[in-house]
Amino acid sequence: MIHISSDAARHCIHLSNGRVSYVIHFAAGRYPVHIYWGKALRDVQDNTVVRRTGRKSSTLDLNETPLDRLPQECPVFGCGDMREGMLQARHADGTEALELRAVNYRVEDGKPELPGLPSARGEGARTLVLTLRDEASGVEADLNYTLWEDTDVIARSAVIRNTGSTPVTVEKALSFCLDLEDSDYDLLTFQGAWAREREWTRRPLVMGDQGNGTVRGASSHQANPFLVLSRPGCTEEAGECMGFALCWSGSFLANVHVDQFRAARVMMGIQPFDFSWTLGPGESFTCPEAYLAWSGEGLGGLTDSFRALIHGHLTTGAYARTERPILINNWEATYFGFDEEKLLSIARKAKEMGVELFVLDDGWFGKRDSDNCSLGDWTDDLRKLPHGLKGLSEKIHAMGLKFGFWVEPEMVSPDSDLYRAHPDWCIHAGNRPRLENRNQLVLDLTRPDVRDYITETISAAIRRADADYVKWDMNRNINMIGSAYLPPEKIRELPVRYILGVYEVMRRITAAFPQVLFESCAGGGGRFDLGILSLMPQGWTSDDTDAWMRCRIQYSTSLLFPPSAMGAHVSAVPNHQTGRVSPLATRAAVAMGGTFGYELDPTKLSDEEIEAIRGYNRRFRDWQKDLFYGRFLRLRSPYETDECAWMTVSPDGKRAAVTHVYRDGSPNEIPGLLRLRGLDPDADYRDTDTGAVYGGDELMYRGLPLYGRQGDYSCRQFFLEKTEEA
Ligand code: GLA
Repeated sequence: MIHISSDAARHCIHLSNGRVSYVIHFAAGRYPVHIYWGKALRDVQDNTVVRRTGRKSSTLDLNETPLDRLPQECPVFGCGDMREGMLQARHADGTEALELRAVNYRVEDGKPELPGLPSARGEGARTLVLTLRDEASGVEADLNYTLWEDTDVIARSAVIRNTGSTPVTVEKALSFCLDLEDSDYDLLTFQGAWAREREWTRRPLVMGDQGNGTVRGASSHQANPFLVLSRPGCTEEAGECMGFALCWSGSFLANVHVDQFRAARVMMGIQPFDFSWTLGPGESFTCPEAYLAWSGEGLGGLTDSFRALIHGHLTTGAYARTERPILINNWEATYFGFDEEKLLSIARKAKEMGVELFVLDDGWFGKRDSDNCSLGDWTDDLRKLPHGLKGLSEKIHAMGLKFGFWVEPEMVSPDSDLYRAHPDWCIHAGNRPRLENRNQLVLDLTRPDVRDYITETISAAIRRADADYVKWDMNRNINMIGSAYLPPEKIRELPVRYILGVYEVMRRITAAFPQVLFESCAGGGGRFDLGILSLMPQGWTSDDTDAWMRCRIQYSTSLLFPPSAMGAHVSAVPNHQTGRVSPLATRAAVAMGGTFGYELDPTKLSDEEIEAIRGYNRRFRDWQKDLFYGRFLRLRSPYETDECAWMTVSPDGKRAAVTHVYRDGSPNEIPGLLRLRGLDPDADYRDTDTGAVYGGDELMYRGLPLYGRQGDYSCRQFFLEKTEEA
């Protein structure tokens, strides 16, 4: 039962879903300050709101007790709070002061739409909309707080409105601020690089600024719009922690500032660097949604809450809650060097192995024999495919396989018919040289004609191919920002308008083809965020397909994203990114931690390998729904040990799958024990491969017996089923 109550005497609003509470108090009856977020409270007593100031806040005098000393829900610089604020706006007279006072609130069932932005759905939710107003300028802000019955996530977003009579320039528009009592937390961030995405990095908070962010125009390989604060000593299963994730795919800021009183201020939202947005009278700007999860049961509790949010309220489309086809992608098998016969030979072999979907990657259009041309020309290359996508797709479909293909809709190659016809359609800074990256330029998605062109050409290709699947790639970031379309005063809106344009074309195309499975990609995991996930239910996690690197990348990614979201393929050895050789069984086991498929040339596999792959595919088919939608638990961290282990408990609690990998071989070791979690201590479980039976209590409190370290990157999977109850 969601309960949003106000207490006029104490000037408080208390939001609760029975498990967590969030309490806002109005200092001096008008400034919203943060009182509490954590395990559900029954009520808020008078004494609770007497804080920091040492006196009843209803008597607050800003001259004596500036807002600088108070935890706030929507801080702005310039009204006594000397810290960086969440919103900033420049008025027509050049000044920037704001004094936002609470003037109104309402409680709604569900949640408000955020125009143009992806956001979670509001089934089983209630929302508090708190309106603040700066009387002198007419600038207003709505703060939205949504709680759901079935997940301990609070969605927050903000809308800024100009109700005045002159234009206002928004200089900073973050989605939320959370001011905590103290800073006795570790900060966990997920930064990285191409092929090394989302490295798990944990360190104690220190005074000053810290966090994560990017100015690249995409959420990026280098950063991820996700932060965790955890009490020191918080583990996977015990301790208090908070997770903060943004539903936004562009440049962002995720900052934690520890102030003079050692209190932490967490803020996240659209990157303010190089951003501004002019609001004429009556206009408004909506900030992307952020999700705040609180757990009293360790990091695993955050994963549980985010999984419930993602599967219950965020992902959309026919594949959001279902099984997905096991695919084979030809990229690492052929790169650009293929013809129809080669593709068909891969598909035939893949079909024999039990694969269900053939994906044609880059190189099928224009005259693209390398990455130096043709992006934007979405016409079939008849040299490679004499009967076009249509002919190939018909042959693949006739084999009983589904068919999908790769596109990179947001880009244009200077060597393309599109660029020759429309040199102004790319993002460029006036007459300066157009900086290429991977030999390509970024299309200006602020332009309606560009968005229409993308929608029409990509839709035509999907129709022509009668496609079942599309891989939507994006392989470079934006710089030299400028547009032949936007007027000079709107150039600083471009990075945000670009992403809104991406969302629009993605929405138009995915809506036109509801039966097609869309997988996002950005040179691997360069735009792996909840914004894109809400439009496409899976994303290519990383271009790094090496099994051990994938242990690391998928382990850290799993804190926020369920396996159903993580594209993962078995590739050839030596691995193309790292040169490592790991056993086929290990590569398969790790790929089963994600959406599962292949990225290799099956015609080069031995009969034994084909036989083994048939077995992996049967296994995955049998377990896929449990692995995708069950409870994912991290057991042993590849960031802290030379092992990696995770497990999933099926939604009905009857089955559990465990994956364990050793990085290093080592002689003469005694096999250890791996403590499992999430099982029923009173039930027995049978290992479906060996028949061995263990008590759930033994498996959790003593551990599952492991195996010898034979060879590097060795691995075991354990598939356990509850025995029939006596
Ligand atoms: C990106 C993707 C790869 C592949 C290539 C094709 O790097 O991440 O998976 O599709 O582009 O050019």
